[in-house]
Amino acid sequence: METVSRPEDARYWVLACQDRKERVGLVPTMGALHEGHLSLVRAARNDCERVVVSIFVNPAQFSPGEDLETYPRPRQRDLELCEREGVDLVFEPLRGDMYLPGHSTYVHVEGLSAGLEGAHRPNFFRGVATVVLKLFHILPADVAYFGRKDAQQLAVVRRMVQDLFVPIEIKACPTVREPDGLAMSSRNAYLSPEERAAAPALYQALMAGRRAFLSGARDPAAVTEAARRRLAEEERFLLQYLECVDAETFQPAVAPLSGRELLATAAFLGSTRLIDNIQLQEG
Ligand code: PAF
Repeated sequence: METVSRPEDARYWVLACQDRKERVGLVPTMGALHEGHLSLVRAARNDCERVVVSIFVNPAQFSPGEDLETYPRPRQRDLELCEREGVDLVFEPLRGDMYLPGHSTYVHVEGLSAGLEGAHRPNFFRGVATVVLKLFHILPADVAYFGRKDAQQLAVVRRMVQDLFVPIEIKACPTVREPDGLAMSSRNAYLSPEERAAAPALYQALMAGRRAFLSGARDPAAVTEAARRRLAEEERFLLQYLECVDAETFQPAVAPLSGRELLATAAFLGSTRLIDNIQLQEG
C-alpha cells in the first residue's frame, strides 16, 4: 500500500492506473475508520481493480464551536486497517494543499442543502460539496462510495455530480450498525459508557416510526410522533430534528406515505451529536 500527501502525486497515481485500464474506486473519509468505512472499501474492492482511500478532516464542513480540532485522528490505526483491507493508495493531504492561500471558491448545492443537517450545521454541505469536488478532481476515480447513514450528504453529492457533469459514478452502501442497532460513526468514540448504553434509543425511535407505518399510519405526523415518543423515553437525548422526508428531495413527506420516504434524525447525547435515518419500508 502506498501513501501520498501531494495532490499532484495522487492524481498521477490514479491516471496511471486508468492508463493500464484498471478501474479505480475512491472512498472519501475523514479517518477514524470503522466498519462502516471498511464496508465501503470492500464494495470498492469488489468492483474495481484499485482502491483509494482519502483521509482528510475537512475544516470547511465544520462550523465554529464544532469538533474540528478534537475530531479523532488515529493515523496509525487507520493505515493498518487500510493495509489489512487491501487498499492500494491512501491520500492524506495537508490542509494547506487542499485550501491554498486566498482560497475563495465554494460549491453550494441549493435546495437539498437547506433542511435537516443544513438547517442545524450552516457550513456543512457547502464544505462537503467543495471538498468532495476537489477530491474528485485530484483523484479522478471511476466510482466513489458513500454510506447511506449520511443520506442527505449522499443526495447532495449525487446532485452536484449530475449538475456539474463530473464523470464519476456514485455508489451508495448500507448503514453499518452495532449489534444493538447504533449506526457506526467515528463520533461514537466520544460517548461515555452510560451514553453508549443509551445511544441505541435513537435507532429504536426510528424503528418505532417504521412500525407505525407498517401498522397502517400514512400520515407523516403520526409516524414521527411514534418515533419521538420512543426517543422521549431516553431522557439523555436532546432532539434536534426527527422528520419524515422525501428520499430524493429531502422536502417534508406528504400523506399518504408510500414507504419510500426516509425517517431522519439528529440528536445530542451529552456533547456528542448523533445522526441516523431509515427508509420507512425496508428495501
Ligand atoms: O462523510 C464524510 O466522512 C465526509 O463528509 C466526507 C465525505 C469525507 C467529506 O469530507
